[in-house]
Amino acid sequence: MSHAWLEKNSIYLLIGIILVIAIGGAVEIAPLFWVNGTVEKVEGMRPYTPLELEGRNIYVREGCYVCHSQQIRTLRDEVERYGHYSLAAESMFDHPFQWGSERTGPDLARVGGKYSDEWHRAHTVDPRSVVPESIMPPYKFLLATKLDYRDIKKILQANKAVGVPYTQDQIDHAKEDLEAQADPNADGLDAMQKRYAKSQARDFDGNSAEITEGDALIAYLQMLGTLVDFKTYRAGAPENRR
Ligand code: HEC
Repeated sequence: MSHAWLEKNSIYLLIGIILVIAIGGAVEIAPLFWVNGTVEKVEGMRPYTPLELEGRNIYVREGCYVCHSQQIRTLRDEVERYGHYSLAAESMFDHPFQWGSERTGPDLARVGGKYSDEWHRAHTVDPRSVVPESIMPPYKFLLATKLDYRDIKKILQANKAVGVPYTQDQIDHAKEDLEAQADPNADGLDAMQKRYAKSQARDFDGNSAEITEGDALIAYLQMLGTLVDFKTYRAGAPENRR
C-alpha cells in the first residue's frame, strides 16, 4: 500500500494517526503506573517535621530553587564536592521536588550540618558578611518575620493527600511539634523526636522570644541530606527493595 493512497483516503489516514499516537502514548504513560516500584526504599527517610516543612515552603516561596539545585549527580566531580549522589528516595516526600535546573549557587542537597546555625543566620542576613564574593541576595527580613503557622495542620494534611505517609498522630500534634522543635525547653520535645527520628531541635534563629521564618528555613537547611546514613547504605541491597 503506497503512502500516496493513505494520504488520499482520510479515514484510513486518521485511523493510522490514532494508532501511531496511541502506541507512542502508551510507551510514555504506562511506566508511570509502576513508578513507585522504581524508588528504592532507603532506611532513615522520614517525612519532614512541621517546622522543616514550613521552612521548605519558605524556600519555595522565595524561589531559592531558581539559583540552587538539590540533586547531586553521579559524576565524580559532583560526588567529591557535595557528597554521595542523591537517591530517588531522598526526594520522595517532596511535593513539588526541588531538584532545580540551575546552579547559580551550589547544590544544597547535603548542606545540612555543613555550617553552624550562626553561619546560616549571618549568611541569610548578608551573604557577603561570610562569603565576600557572593552574589546571593540578602534575606534579612526572614529572621525578623514571625512565622505564621496557623495552617500547619492543613499543610500536613495536604501533603498526606498527595502521598506523604503522615500519621494521624503527627497531624494532630503538628502545632505542638513545630513549637517543640524551635524551643528546646518545650515540654513536647521527647514526643516530637519520637514522631520524627533524627530531628534536630534548638533555637535555630538565636532569638528565643519568637518563632521566626528564619527558624523554619534554617531547620530545613540543617536537615537536608542528613537522614540517610551513608556509612551503612548499600546501593541495590535487597533490604532496600520493596
Ligand atoms: C540569585 C541567586 C541566588 C538565590 C536566589 C539564592 N541563592 Fe543561595 N547562593 C547563591 C550563590 C551564588 C551562593 C554561593 C556564595 C555564597 O555562599 O553566598 C549561594 C550560597 C548559598 C548557601 C551556602 C551553600 C554552600 O554549600 O556553601 C546556602 C545555604 C544558600 N545559598 C541558601 C539559599 C536560600 C535558602 C535561598 C532562598 C532564601 C537562596 N540561597 C537564594 C545564589 C543564590
